[in-house]
Amino acid sequence: MKARTCLAIVLAAGEGTRMHSARPKVLHAVAGRSLLAHVLSAVAEAGIKATAVVIGPGQDDVAAEAKRVLPAAATFVQRQRRGTAHAALAAKVAIERRPDDILVVYGDTPFIRPATLKRLRTPLAAGAAVAVLAFRPSDPAGYGRLITSGDELIAIREEADATARERAIDLCNGGIMALAGNSALAILKRIGNHNRKREFYLTDAVEIARGMKLRAVAVEVEEDDVRGINTKGQLAEAEAVAQQRLRKAALDAGVTLVAPETVFLSADTKFGRDVVVEPYVVFGEKVRVEDGAVIHSFSHLVGAHVGKAVSVGPFARLRPGTRLGDGARIGNFVEVKEAVVEAGAKANHLSYIGDAVVGADANIGAGTITCNYDGSAKHRTEIGKDAFIGSNTALVAPVKIGDGAYVGSGSVITENVPARALALGRGRQVIKEGWAARLRVHKPPGKKKLPSKQ
Ligand code: UD1
Ligand code: CA
Repeated sequence: MKARTCLAIVLAAGEGTRMHSARPKVLHAVAGRSLLAHVLSAVAEAGIKATAVVIGPGQDDVAAEAKRVLPAAATFVQRQRRGTAHAALAAKVAIERRPDDILVVYGDTPFIRPATLKRLRTPLAAGAAVAVLAFRPSDPAGYGRLITSGDELIAIREEADATARERAIDLCNGGIMALAGNSALAILKRIGNHNRKREFYLTDAVEIARGMKLRAVAVEVEEDDVRGINTKGQLAEAEAVAQQRLRKAALDAGVTLVAPETVFLSADTKFGRDVVVEPYVVFGEKVRVEDGAVIHSFSHLVGAHVGKAVSVGPFARLRPGTRLGDGARIGNFVEVKEAVVEAGAKANHLSYIGDAVVGADANIGAGTITCNYDGSAKHRTEIGKDAFIGSNTALVAPVKIGDGAYVGSGSVITENVPARALALGRGRQVIKEGWAARLRVHKPPGKKKLPSKQ
């Protein structure tokens, strides 16, 4: 049998009024990734080829996020926000291509799994016109209630329109609906807005399908799969659920998390074998940690690649573009940005390494700063292998330090240093015997005893 074709319509046009935020709701992040990115990845992983994202007018940032995550996705603009059915119809052109199945997925349900999307399509293959994802939330407030009879779905009642008896129903609409492609458009076009909010509700598709003598069913899943996010409170709850899952996955894969509840991960954090993560570490987007590395407490990593057996922290900050070679050491209060630190190189204390290359086995002394920014442009610093940079050195970029060179501590280096050379970029020390007391001018008068002039 030929595989059934499928179109996913992702609704993301809502303003997210209940978030009280200038940012569109679907761009809020869970586990370091936008709600929209979570949903679109699930759609892609479910093997759905055609995707339509419905955005609001002027939401270029939402369109850009959709493109970034799923370049093949088409975007449609819903000019006025008149409800979820109205939003789905913004993708009418795609619906008219008559895919076998249509999945309408809400952009604010980030935990939807590819397997669940597949499962929701199975009743369509068996002849149903509408299949709705159902769940029993611990708090049903805000969700549409499912009115069922046996395994038939009779109607979905939005909370604002529900009677007290209907509100007591604990089976709710998870916000994902599968529609058979051959009747979808006819159903969607018949949906009206005779309800309290004067919106075109997608949920009315159930009653309309039944009126057309078509079958509607509910497919029940766990709450965490369909958790919808409307408020900052729900966003925080979702984050907690996401973190629990990510920590468990990391532990299951063999990562040592000494205090898992204190470690924050991103959906895309990748670990090798025998990695140890101490308490209170934050992993932002795009971090990869290779075998045997140790991330000490209070470190913050984003966009960094940590090589094998590397030691990071405590209190280290790795920013995007950091690549640490095998066995490198980045110690306390060291910040690295857009820099390659090659194998075995060390920056153990209090440094800033930005827009730089640090050669293999080089040693960066405490307090070394790459002065990469001149107020208008960024410049690069290149440090050769086996170089030694003395403590409290300012490397004024652009500048190159050759292999094996030695820079005396306290230097301000403004010119390139040849390989194996010694560079002392500081003023000579001056000694004036017995002068110390002269400078102690704050001593009360009378008690001051100046040394006799030499
Ligand atoms: C919706 C369901 C409800 C379900 C819940 C699950 C309807 C009428 N209600 O309620 O039964 O229990 O989701 O989470 O469908 N959107 C648009 N354009 C619009 C309106 C909404 O694109 O004109 C988008 C939003 O961006 C959002 C999604 O559709 O991603 C759902 O809208 P939302 O307002 O959050 O619906 P709920 O009130 O949560
Ligand atoms: Ca919602």
